[in-house]
Amino acid sequence: MTFTEHTILITGGTSGIGLGFAKRFAELGNKVIITARNQVRLDTVLAENPDFAGFTSDIDDKNSVLELVNFIKTNFPELDVVMNSAGIMRALNLFEHSDGNLSALTEEIHTNLLGTIAVTQAFLPLLADNHGTVINVSSGLSNLADGAHPIYNLTKAGVHFYSDALREQAKYFGKNLRVVELVPPLVAETNLEEHASTDNPTNMKLSDLINEALVGLENDAERIDAGFAKILHQMGKSNSEENTSKLSAQMLGNYFPKEKGER
Ligand SMILES: NC(=O)c1ccc[n+]([C@@H]2O[C@H](COP(=O)([O-])OP(=O)(O)OC[C@H]3O[C@@H](n4cnc5c(N)ncnc54)[C@H](OP(=O)(O)O)[C@@H]3O)[C@@H](O)[C@H]2O)c1
Repeated sequence: MTFTEHTILITGGTSGIGLGFAKRFAELGNKVIITARNQVRLDTVLAENPDFAGFTSDIDDKNSVLELVNFIKTNFPELDVVMNSAGIMRALNLFEHSDGNLSALTEEIHTNLLGTIAVTQAFLPLLADNHGTVINVSSGLSNLADGAHPIYNLTKAGVHFYSDALREQAKYFGKNLRVVELVPPLVAETNLEEHASTDNPTNMKLSDLINEALVGLENDAERIDAGFAKILHQMGKSNSEENTSKLSAQMLGNYFPKEKGER
């Protein structure tokens, strides 16, 4: 069934994957509300897409999430889809973070994991009342450590397990809630980080990701492994130790290249 006539909240809707989905969902006849922190960028996106609604909101901030819930309950009580796309990604050398200051190491935990959980939990009652859907954007890197993004990997694995548990609880407690995990590989046309972005021809095209996701959404999929994420899923299931070593050697070399002769 065509994914249409929904009212959809997309966190992180001003850029990359969130913005791509916002545009496609709107084209398909859905009402779309986007959020992000940067007010100027939000205003620009809203001016370019006058059919969108928008609200400035930081998923890391409890009060900001509460304000968002109030805004939605007042203006869009029919909301039936929340897409948690807001996220950040950091390549980190763990050996450079031993001074007791954990803020750089915990940043992704706050946004990707705790933020996703905070937004989902805040909208659960409304979504269940409206027979709704949560779409959590995890990552192919939730399947195995890539070495270069040690905290990102664990936040996305956390999003995966949280999504699975929420889905099972919804079934067990008889709630009208669908839980979908969207698992993208590296995607072009996003601002997540330099390596993940723009022109790299090996990255999945954003339009291809959206097309694949829509097929899954329209066919009741619970988990949508898009493009190379299917391979990463398999790599995490069989020979995972060996695959982790191989992938990490490649990724660490890309992100932290050594000088010639350096050991
Ligand atoms: N790009 C990839 O290759 C790739 C692959 C797999 C998974 N993913 C996942 O896909 C999701 C979207 O990534 P993307 O590639 O579209 O990145 P992006 O282009 O950088 O967009 C990220 C969006 O999230 C918003 N955001 C960041 N922190 C936020 C916060 N604390 N509160 C509210 N909004 C926040 C940003 O706006 P503000 O900065 O204004 O808040 C922006 O709108 C992420 O969860 C990412 O982990 C991406």
